[in-house]
Amino acid sequence: MSIFPQLILGIESSCDEMAAAVLRGESEILANVIHEQADVHQPYGGVVPELASRDHVRAVSQVTQRALLEAGVGLDEIEGVAVTAGPGLVGSLLVGLNFGKALAYRAGIPFVGVHHLAGHIASASLGEGTPSPPYIGLVVSGGHTALYRFDSNGSIELLGQTRDDAVGEAFDKVANLLGLPFPGGPSLAKAAESGRADAVSFPRPMLKRPGLDFSYSGLKTAVAIEVEGRGALSATEVADIAASFEMAAVESLIVKSCRALQEQGLDQLVVVGGVSANACLRREMARVAREKGFHAVFPPLSLSTDNAVMIAAAGGRLLREGKQSEWNLNAFSRVPLQRIMEPTDRA
Ligand code: KG4
Ligand code: ZN
Repeated sequence: MSIFPQLILGIESSCDEMAAAVLRGESEILANVIHEQADVHQPYGGVVPELASRDHVRAVSQVTQRALLEAGVGLDEIEGVAVTAGPGLVGSLLVGLNFGKALAYRAGIPFVGVHHLAGHIASASLGEGTPSPPYIGLVVSGGHTALYRFDSNGSIELLGQTRDDAVGEAFDKVANLLGLPFPGGPSLAKAAESGRADAVSFPRPMLKRPGLDFSYSGLKTAVAIEVEGRGALSATEVADIAASFEMAAVESLIVKSCRALQEQGLDQLVVVGGVSANACLRREMARVAREKGFHAVFPPLSLSTDNAVMIAAAGGRLLREGKQSEWNLNAFSRVPLQRIMEPTDRA
């Protein structure tokens, strides 16, 4: 077994996607398999945790086998297994975590639990323009909206976060209000393409307040009031409200990111998490970065939303640093990013 494992199997099952990937070294993607559950949750308009974990149980073995097949490698060639251990839905996490542990144990190779957000951060190094610390990380997903400072000595400082809803959650809920199909975020972004962003003047949450925290529940309520006041909506109205909401949400992310860069005296921003797939956010952030003279790095579009490549990338780094997890590592529904997943030094 190599002391510096290169061929890593990654498994991610923190929410409603079961994903497996094979990565060689830092960034050579050999396989990236994602099994989605949109049809399972569509009737409920949101993710039902119990249904998610049951579907994961059915999918985990097949998805992993498909990844190995796609990569053209046998389990006996894999040198390490990296699995998301939190945060997320515990029932969902446990399926991937226990499966990954069992595989690693049987194969006699190291296994490491990975923080889901560390995975997202690692996704930014899988495209062009790999960031090197110190930088600001903006994490925007269905469960998180936060700004971090990352330093070259490995230290991570939480600078600000949402006080209520996550921005992805706000996209999903507003999509629901507008009668757009699940999953809401991408549907809303699609509807917004043909709308006018200045059609409705929604509040820009927390912008006038100092600090780096976010809030999205007020914006969501403002959309609800607007929708209620109008009765049945025409397609044009849906598009206009979607575009106006999207711009308000994106603007607050941009303003707070700029504030974080300025306060910390940095000029590199890494934007990750499912909402980093949003075209309006990508376009507006790039424009502001050009204007203000900072670098904004996004993951490749295909790796913005949950996937196992990012888990393999983050876990591979830990394993090559000689870190691995205990076999009794548990799943965590909430766990700060600063905390590494209980690895032990191999030495
Ligand atoms: O990181 P992710 O795949 O899963 C979590 O860790 O939560 O992020 C999912 C979130 C969902 O709220 C989804 O609606 C949102 O990312 N999302 C988008 C887009 N694609 C995914 N939001 C806005 N525009 C998009 N294109
Ligand atoms: Zn995620």
